[in-house]
Amino acid sequence: MNNEVRQILVTSALPYANGSIHIGHLVEYIQTDIWVRFQKMQGNQCTYVCADDAHGTPIMLRARQEGIEPEALIARVSTEHQQDFSDFNVVFDNYHSTHSDENRQLASTIYQRNRDKGNITNRTITQAFDPEENMFLPDRFIKGTCPKCGADDQYGDNCEACGASYSSNELKNPVSAVSGVKPVDKESEHHFFKLGNFEQMLQQWTKSGHLQNEVSNKLDEWFEAGLQEWDISRDAPYFGFEIPDHPGKYFYVWLDAPVGYMASFKNLCDKTDLDFDQFWGKESKAELYHFIGKDIIYFHALFWPAMLSGADFRTPTAIFSHGFLTVNGKKMSKSRGTFIKANTYFKHLNPEYLRYYFAAKLGSGIEDIDLNLEDFSQRVNSDLVGKVVNIASRCSGFIKKRFNGQLSAELSEPELFDEFINAGESINKHYEKREFSRAVREIMALADRANQYIDEKKPWVIAKEEGKEDELQAVCSMGINLFRLLIGYLRPILPATAEKSEAFLQITPLTWAELATPLTSHAIAKFKPLMTRIEATQIEAMLEDSKEDLVAQSTTQAKPNKALKKGHLAKDPIADTIEFEDFAKIDLRIARIVKADHVEGADKLLQLTMDLGEGETRNVFAGIKSAYTPEGLEGKLTVMVANLAPRKMRFGLSEGMVLAAGPGGKELYILDPDEGAEPGMKVK
Ligand code: MSP
Ligand code: ZN
Repeated sequence: MNNEVRQILVTSALPYANGSIHIGHLVEYIQTDIWVRFQKMQGNQCTYVCADDAHGTPIMLRARQEGIEPEALIARVSTEHQQDFSDFNVVFDNYHSTHSDENRQLASTIYQRNRDKGNITNRTITQAFDPEENMFLPDRFIKGTCPKCGADDQYGDNCEACGASYSSNELKNPVSAVSGVKPVDKESEHHFFKLGNFEQMLQQWTKSGHLQNEVSNKLDEWFEAGLQEWDISRDAPYFGFEIPDHPGKYFYVWLDAPVGYMASFKNLCDKTDLDFDQFWGKESKAELYHFIGKDIIYFHALFWPAMLSGADFRTPTAIFSHGFLTVNGKKMSKSRGTFIKANTYFKHLNPEYLRYYFAAKLGSGIEDIDLNLEDFSQRVNSDLVGKVVNIASRCSGFIKKRFNGQLSAELSEPELFDEFINAGESINKHYEKREFSRAVREIMALADRANQYIDEKKPWVIAKEEGKEDELQAVCSMGINLFRLLIGYLRPILPATAEKSEAFLQITPLTWAELATPLTSHAIAKFKPLMTRIEATQIEAMLEDSKEDLVAQSTTQAKPNKALKKGHLAKDPIADTIEFEDFAKIDLRIARIVKADHVEGADKLLQLTMDLGEGETRNVFAGIKSAYTPEGLEGKLTVMVANLAPRKMRFGLSEGMVLAAGPGGKELYILDPDEGAEPGMKVK
């Protein structure tokens, strides 16, 4: 590596503006943030930008379902996303939106330049159309019976029951998920990007070091299948940018999404002295890296370089793809409580733990990574709390009490210090290559070495011996210096812990270059615990809370596809009305709440003992804590579903459901039968 300051622009994929950030997303943002912090610590000029991906049909329909304008939805979600990122210490130099002036202009430029070069073509195609809503339907908004296994209520692109993929016209009994009516075929003129024009350019580009090997091998399959023309337009109504010369036609969300990287950077340039063309011009010498998940490789490794090159912009230096997160070896699941939102994690656990665990698992490849919760606690507790933080706490007390906080004037074991400094070279290389797990392994080997040194020297024994003041100060100062190096090496992964440690050491934020200069004749502050152990109860509570999101949703919110229409609740597309026999299957009963209790570790649940008359009682967990206290409920009569299949929850078995109305929070109302009703009476 030369000594010139590198100019680097880094992006993470732009999260969709219709959902919360979850711990799967965080793999990517944490991975990128670690790499960016490492580059900054090296003294390189590294800029990290991101944005919300705000366009497309799902966002338009989600806003409708909430009865708000898309602009209001994306503004709210953007605030939430940015809060989540900042909670996890993922720090962007700029966070913008694809629904921005910069993006509109850049997307138009890219489109126009490609059009003028003959890379865009028009053709009429036939698509599923909702005649009631007057809109074309993306596959995800068509539901019906799976053509392979016959499961009902499946999406138009794949079946959740048997896993088959198909196209929506193969679906049996298709209905629009928006209005519930049967879609009809309708023609419309669409605009296509002629990816085939870039075959040669892409064949070359994908094989010259811009992609991981396994990714470029995967692309070979796509080349063999032939590069298809890409449909880049959508008809109104659509939330996006109108195509400049074609009123009523909009850019497909994936056309302007990656342009959002440029737009966010442009927005930053306008606020700083960064120069846009220096980074995006055809002759740019700056480095450009996109971190993405393996599910969106096609867009980034084929369409994106082609669009850029067709519009005379530079192409990326590299695309870094990563695998998907599993929890305890399985896909994240709402019913297991492992579909964990960033905010839910944040309520229960320190983000530094997750950053450390992901780093300890991440390499430069695209294999999936597993968050095993058992292993997670064990590793964090033994590595971070047991090894790293422990060094500081073992040495700092003596320095503070016996030497007024002052470290010795010289290092007593310069060879040991040098050993640590020399290890920095390979740790550095691992970071650069995104081999974070290797970096962590080497850093932890150094932590073991530091603890071994202290165990050998036994400062607690020296402290009791007379005339050994100098030795005690020397050993503890050595320990503190080794701790400083460990924290320096871990700094990209543990920014908050590093900051606390820097306050304890009374030093400015560590850079890689200054690590080699030891801390001597320097006063340190009083040591405060930097990190606490993970307790099993915290993890349990987080899982339960993740499950609860689901309980609360199923009792207080309509299902998404039932309320898509503007202004009123739409009919259920599958079951517009139900037969009396269907209703009669639900056994609604009057019940008395004889006992109500808080549930330890649960934010939203109360445990209710329901008397159903004739000595029958049921245990029910109800998500109504936000609106009721246990004291306010005991003795009350209400209505419950008595024949709901028992549900095993973390706290125990729930044997029924209490009905409540309202939007949630404080506004939640259980049903209150009139005088005279008795436990056990059937509600008909
Ligand atoms: N909006 C698009 C990206 C546009 S980039 C021009 C998108 N958004 S997303 O919200 O679905 O995903 C954002 C990033 O998070 C993607 O890179 C995706 O691969 C990654 N992940 C989403 N779920 C993930 C896991 N469970 N595990 C690891 N990464 C995951 O795609
Ligand atoms: Zn199926």
